[in-house]
Amino acid sequence: MTESIPHGGILVNRIDERYDYHSIEPFVELDQTGLSDLELIANGAYSPLTGFLGKKDYENVVNNLRLSTGEIWSIPITLPVTREQEKRIKVGEVIRLTYEGETYGVMELTEIYIPDQTIEALNVYRTNDAQHPGVKNVFKRGDRYLAGPVTLVKKHKKEQFTDYYLDPSKTRERFQELGWNTVVGFQTRNPVHRAHEYIQKSALETVDGLFLNPLVGETKSDDIPADVRMESYHVLLEHYYPKNRVFLAVFPASMRYAGPREAIFHALVRKNYGCTHFIVGRDHAGVGDYYGTYDAQEIFHQFTAEELGITPLFFEHSFFCRKCENMASTKTCPHGEEDRVILSGTKVRKLLRDGKTPPPEFSRPEVVQVLIEGVKVTI
Ligand code: ADX
Repeated sequence: MTESIPHGGILVNRIDERYDYHSIEPFVELDQTGLSDLELIANGAYSPLTGFLGKKDYENVVNNLRLSTGEIWSIPITLPVTREQEKRIKVGEVIRLTYEGETYGVMELTEIYIPDQTIEALNVYRTNDAQHPGVKNVFKRGDRYLAGPVTLVKKHKKEQFTDYYLDPSKTRERFQELGWNTVVGFQTRNPVHRAHEYIQKSALETVDGLFLNPLVGETKSDDIPADVRMESYHVLLEHYYPKNRVFLAVFPASMRYAGPREAIFHALVRKNYGCTHFIVGRDHAGVGDYYGTYDAQEIFHQFTAEELGITPLFFEHSFFCRKCENMASTKTCPHGEEDRVILSGTKVRKLLRDGKTPPPEFSRPEVVQVLIEGVKVTI
């Protein structure tokens, strides 16, 4: 049995597909992030949250990285609306939550409040630069926040990789069936490369299983599309990983690009999925130069091991060293920059768009093939 206890003690379940919502008139239309947050609250991935945050919890999360009940929580999960939308609903009502006109959830509307989004941006993203994709979203989504407990009344039909959407209760069951006591979670939003493989396998040397959990929710437009990334995982797993040690499922959340704060959030959510350990490498969930290389590791030191309830595994910047003839990191390799193959995501995307092949020291040839094909389709 896995030792991982859900955040807050109990795995939340707020799914009721028999809920009769047909006579409820007021509704709010969700965006893609809103829909995925609704699903992830309801299926327990965001335990202990049972709804979108009220003002007290929101301010606590923004200012103190905690819910008002004391648990660590780093990303405010809010339901923003515009002033126009706000006019059509009243506190005290039950409202429907729709996506593309279809009802997926209901919410007891307990509160409508006006957030200080500049403070939110500065505290959560460490910047209020509107060029930052996460900050841009905060200001774009609406300046009134709705709060209250939610129920998911219908599951949104997924068109892609349907077999890879698993609720935390299911991933927990799978880990148990596989006989894994310790499971390391891996978050990713990029096509897999050898540094990913290196840190995953280094972690796997010390635990029973690896939970590969690529984020497939909303990402910025120049990130590689999720279907190409999933395909890159399939070929890598087929050729280079033992089948009984890895479990692949998708993480449907939107990417926030909040660096350190998002690393904490990613770890807590993977705890809910049943992981005991979580990988945090260089510039986790970072974008541009907004965060220092190891800021997302340092933030974990603010909390005790007990209150985190999941063990972060930190990895230095990894690369292929031509002198070592191996993958290595600054911690294990004495050679200079000139011997190291280091490619950024941006450089790789440029190589692919120019029809050039990233070198085998950077990416497995099978993966490169998938990326070349995938990028051809998307540009
Ligand atoms: S992220 O936004 O999801 O963090 P990415 O998919 O690139 O982006 O990274 C997934 C995980 O691998 C993160 O924990 C990140 O810190 C780590 N990582 C990515 N590249 C490297 C590298 N070269 N060396 C060490 N860790 C890395």
